[in-house]
Amino acid sequence: MGNEIRVLAEDYPDFEFIYTDIEELDITNPLKVAAYFTSSKPQAVINCAAYTAVDKAELNESSAYLINATAVEILSKSAAAIGALMVHISTDYVFDGKSYRPYCESDATNPQSAYGRTKLAGEAAVRQYADKGLILRTSWLYSAFGNNFVKTMMKYGTERDELKVVFDQVGTPTYARDLAKAILDIIPLAFQHSGTELYHYSNEGVASWYDFARLVIAFSGIDCQIKPILTKDYPLPAPRPYFSVLNKSKIKETYPISIPYWSDSVEHCIHRLVKSNR
Ligand SMILES: NC(=O)c1ccc[n+]([C@@H]2O[C@H](COP(=O)([O-])OP(=O)(O)OC[C@H]3O[C@@H](n4cnc5c(N)ncnc54)[C@H](OP(=O)(O)O)[C@@H]3O)[C@@H](O)[C@H]2O)c1
Repeated sequence: MGNEIRVLAEDYPDFEFIYTDIEELDITNPLKVAAYFTSSKPQAVINCAAYTAVDKAELNESSAYLINATAVEILSKSAAAIGALMVHISTDYVFDGKSYRPYCESDATNPQSAYGRTKLAGEAAVRQYADKGLILRTSWLYSAFGNNFVKTMMKYGTERDELKVVFDQVGTPTYARDLAKAILDIIPLAFQHSGTELYHYSNEGVASWYDFARLVIAFSGIDCQIKPILTKDYPLPAPRPYFSVLNKSKIKETYPISIPYWSDSVEHCIHRLVKSNR
């Protein structure tokens, strides 16, 4: 996510961007965060850091909590102290996935995993400590960077003749570049609001992981068969929501953004990956 913001930065010449990673700033250290914010005076803080190893979090919930909740509290307090907008990214895993219609912001949360619980605690920290907050819940994030489903499918697809992918979990893949653009477009407008606002943002449409994998392989021109399987045939430590489609009406009604259809964005990302041979 952070890398996609960095790439888009040149399209926003009116903004000055400051990037930090753990080497420059450990976001779990309240004194260092406060000092950093006081000296660099950002008008908005975009927190792209997270503990995202969903299965590992089942055994390391306290490590996940430190990054996904405690650090969010620290960032929110320091942002409030300098009057900065705190932008935070959360997840569809705050829901239990038992719905039959796309989740709205007002729907009850009920995380089923350690990761989901810690991310929900992070949302609460923004609400409690940020003066101005913007929480964006997203789902199935992928990009041209880091480790993600698109890159994993491309890698395994070239190494194997056949891949088995679950088809009984549905949601919406979200291109981190699209989410990054939405955030950068929203920030100047979000200053006008007070308090913390919660929005859902994913790409448009609905897919299963199987559909997603098929499209990745097709757009990549890789010769590999994708076979549908059930979740019960691919057991993982952390339970995943069976249904996690997000309703995006609120963000579309509040801000003038257009959201790309999921498969158009997958094609864009793969085109970039193939072009850059990444
Ligand atoms: N990935 C998904 O499918 C998905 C779905 C819904 C929501 N989200 C949310 O979207 C956001 C972005 O996710 P992502 O996929 O871009 O995550 P990611 O690729 O795992 O990146 C998270 C980043 O946080 C950094 N980080 C961890 N601990 C840190 C610390 N103490 N100080 C500074 N940086 C630290 C990591 O650095 P290292 O690499 O050095 O550890 C990593 O660069 C997260 O809030 C995530 O919860 C993700």
